Amino acid sequence: MGESTDIRCVAVCHASKCRRRGAEDLAAQLDKEIMAHGLEGTVATRRGRCNGLCSRGPTMAVRPEGCVYARLNAEAIRRIVREHLAGGRPVRALIPKGKDSAPSEKKAKKQLKAARKAEKQARKAAKKAKKDSLPG
Ligand code: FES
Repeated sequence: MGESTDIRCVAVCHASKCRRRGAEDLAAQLDKEIMAHGLEGTVATRRGRCNGLCSRGPTMAVRPEGCVYARLNAEAIRRIVREHLAGGRPVRALIPKGKDSAPSEKKAKKQLKAARKAEKQARKAAKKAKKDSLPG
């Protein structure tokens, strides 16, 4: 493939069933945990679509690995950030059977491209904000 995989894309499902089970709060907690671990430059978060595990929601997908975590709660988010996003080891206990295989090549590339674009936009916005704050 030849592409760098040092930016992960993490998407908490925001479809209706996961939202009803607290996906919004978990996504906010995820952002805080990512900041607390200093991972904001290597992990991009976004609102995700249904992962097909609605009865086991809230769910969250991590790319490019292709892991889908289910039955998320505050402790699960802390553990995933600490062990997977910071430590590099997926938390198998939180991945439903059959949901830890790699996504299709095309899908993985698309996810990675979206993550890089989000990162580039964030850097550009930070640069602009810094420039605007300078006197003169
Ligand atoms: S609604 Fe979240 S996995 Fe389907």
